Amino acid sequence: MTAPIIRSLPELRATVAGWKKAGETVGVVPTMGALHQGHLSLVRAAKAGTDRVIVTIFVNPKQFNNPEDLENYPRTEQDDARKLAPFAVDAIYVPDGDQIYPEGFATNVSVTGVTDAMEGQHRPGHFDGVATVVTKLFLQTQADRAYFGNKDYQQLLLVQQLARDLDIPIEIIGCPTIREEDGLALSSRNLLLSDRARIIAPALNRAMTQAADQIVNGGDVAATLAAAAERVVAAGFIDVEYIELRAAASLAPLTQLTEPARLLAAANLAGVRLIDNIAVAPGT
Ligand code: PAF
Repeated sequence: MTAPIIRSLPELRATVAGWKKAGETVGVVPTMGALHQGHLSLVRAAKAGTDRVIVTIFVNPKQFNNPEDLENYPRTEQDDARKLAPFAVDAIYVPDGDQIYPEGFATNVSVTGVTDAMEGQHRPGHFDGVATVVTKLFLQTQADRAYFGNKDYQQLLLVQQLARDLDIPIEIIGCPTIREEDGLALSSRNLLLSDRARIIAPALNRAMTQAADQIVNGGDVAATLAAAAERVVAAGFIDVEYIELRAAASLAPLTQLTEPARLLAAANLAGVRLIDNIAVAPGT
């Protein structure tokens, strides 16, 4: 049976109030729809961790810095509801636009530090849009726990930071990236890849994994990353926007592997922008 779809904030509030009155905990999985196994793994974690689970589906215009990207973003609500059916989630919140940004909306939530580089630099305004909508979704759902994928690692750190800074009583749970067998990280954007681009796409993760191995084995960080970017372009990508080694906890840039790190990259392939990141631990 498909879960009830809730489109208005008053209905969401009434539903959640009933659960809270009964002493039940609430988990939220925020999404923009076009659900794939990555999202479903978050739903699975939420089902295991809380009494009630809400999946939110909202293609958030404020986090798209490119109008064409917003227009092309896949919208597959019926299909999403069908995919969620086996999980028996308690509600799918698909807010009408004015439930999130009513007329006269004038507030912006902005997190500094972890958002400054990489996605923050290449997608101006993106993280303010994410921070603003996530804050609203947390306050609207009153969830006790929220589930996010490691795939958007910078986003995960941003969300942890904002919940901490704004004293929002919610626990943020980071869940592993889910990959295709060939290593491609699952993403709603993969739906936009042509057959040819889909064959090329795993080259990004391949180059990153190889670079991580080389760095762990003492390879020079800058030279290794430059060579990895060259391999990605040679495989057929248009360009690599960034490929960087950063401290896992703070995202401070690293020129040497002196602490647990993350290798993060974004690259363009036939009009589709792909991002990925992997853990790089000293001594592994
Ligand atoms: O990761 C996403 O899908 C989005 O950035 C999120 C967290 C749902 C906010 O719109």
